[in-house]
Amino acid sequence: MTWHPPNPVRYQIPETRWPTREEAESSLLFQPVRVGSTQLESRTWVPAMVPWRATEEGFVTEANLDWYRRFAQGRPGAIVVEATGVRDIPSGPLLRIGHDRFLPGLKRLVETVREASQGHTHLFIQIIDFLSVKRRPEKTRFMEHFLELHPHHRRALAEITGEESWTHAGDEDVRGFLKQATDEVLEKVLDERELEALRFGYRERVTDTQLAHIRELPRVLPDIFADASRRAREAGFDGVELHYAHAYTMASFLSARNTREDGYGGARENRVRLPLEIYRRVRERVGDDYVVGCRFLADEVISGGNRIADAVYFGVEFARAGLDFLSISKGGKFEDAKQPRVGQAVYPYTGQSGYECMPTVISDETGPFARNIPLVAQIKRAVNEAGFQTPVVGAGGITTFEQAEAILERGEADIIGLARQALADPDWFVKVKTGRGPEVRRCTYTNYCEGLDQAHKQVTCKLWDRVELDEPGVPLSSDGRRRLIPPRWKEEQ
Ligand SMILES: Cc1cc2nc3c(=O)[nH]c(=O)nc-3n(C[C@H](O)[C@H](O)[C@H](O)COP(=O)(O)O)c2cc1C
Ligand code: SF4
Repeated sequence: MTWHPPNPVRYQIPETRWPTREEAESSLLFQPVRVGSTQLESRTWVPAMVPWRATEEGFVTEANLDWYRRFAQGRPGAIVVEATGVRDIPSGPLLRIGHDRFLPGLKRLVETVREASQGHTHLFIQIIDFLSVKRRPEKTRFMEHFLELHPHHRRALAEITGEESWTHAGDEDVRGFLKQATDEVLEKVLDERELEALRFGYRERVTDTQLAHIRELPRVLPDIFADASRRAREAGFDGVELHYAHAYTMASFLSARNTREDGYGGARENRVRLPLEIYRRVRERVGDDYVVGCRFLADEVISGGNRIADAVYFGVEFARAGLDFLSISKGGKFEDAKQPRVGQAVYPYTGQSGYECMPTVISDETGPFARNIPLVAQIKRAVNEAGFQTPVVGAGGITTFEQAEAILERGEADIIGLARQALADPDWFVKVKTGRGPEVRRCTYTNYCEGLDQAHKQVTCKLWDRVELDEPGVPLSSDGRRRLIPPRWKEEQ
């Protein structure tokens, strides 16, 4: 179960009047927009969405190709390929770009989108680094194998029991005692991080500078991101989106909770240092004529985290440094995530910050629709006032043409991102542009898709995954119960 606001209000998806073909063609939404060295055909954008289709080794599969082909058939201005790992380390069925062996699959992905959109859609790839997150262990296993015993554990036991002998008890006795201990006792014996490792699974932080590989992140990451970007260019992508958002390494560097003392934490100008160093190294590697943008958070929505004032500062600094677009998201953090079941890993979209990332119709007085746009607008205003025209992409609950056009008319964003609405109906773009808006399959914003993502299952949409299952050649989920891509739009009807 995902977090919902207290005293929730249930919303209907907004009624709307769709534009005629003529209205759509002369609208702002369907005008071109410059993004760095290139130009998108329209101001529409499909933000990154992980579909859980890659192989265990991170290679592109036929199912990945089917997925992106289907999005490309709707001809949005741009598609951003799902978060793709920059390192050459096992990371489950998530796409990877940390070695040249991934290039052939990624090249096929580019060709597939180019062909399916007939060259109308630009293709970017989101590149990501993440730290280690372990599954929640069983208590016994944790006590027997994972907990590192220190003198302070024994001292705590002695204090709690009043028996001094615990201070020199053997490991086995201490572990045996802790295996049986109540939560109340454990809270007195284990420190905050140990309790977290027990209850949620061990999770690394960028502030764990006692660990050499964490201390070294600022030294190693610029080249890792630069190499990944070079591969993206070689594979034929039109650009890269540096993933500086949500629960991952770079967002954690930007976070107000980053207290590193090596010049990469603390004040805002220190927190933005590594993201900028990475950008510069990427730029050196790919050249000036390649699109390099980033995604970051307007608000982390966690206590002690970044607020809009931080995001405004980062937005201006990113624009000043020369990033070609700024895609704004919100929330999606580990810090407020729900406790996973034993054997599962914590999922960063289950708390309030997760709600803000992918808001549903069970909402508060603001509602889920275009909920984040006021923050996006503040970032855009600051970027423009500082003298930069860097396009700003807004997303979150945008479902109708009227919403999108009004956002552009008010100058609140430059490009409109539709993630779940594009998943519900990838033909949204072509339907709206050709005056066939009434045929759009409207997203209901109840997050069935996000639930599948949470369970690490192949992501589909409840509006189409049980439809025409017997269609010849339609790819099905591993259990054969769901189709993996939406049915083709029968335009002639
Ligand atoms: C299934 C699913 C997977 C997602 N994966 C990513 C991702 O890989 N990277 C990312 O930045 N955002 C990801 N998101 C967030 C979306 O890009 C988007 O910001 C969010 O869904 C809000 O936009 P919407 O209301 O138009 O759906 C994902 C969302 C969904 C539903
Ligand atoms: S599953 Fe639900 S929330 Fe997800 S895209 Fe489909 S209708 Fe929208």
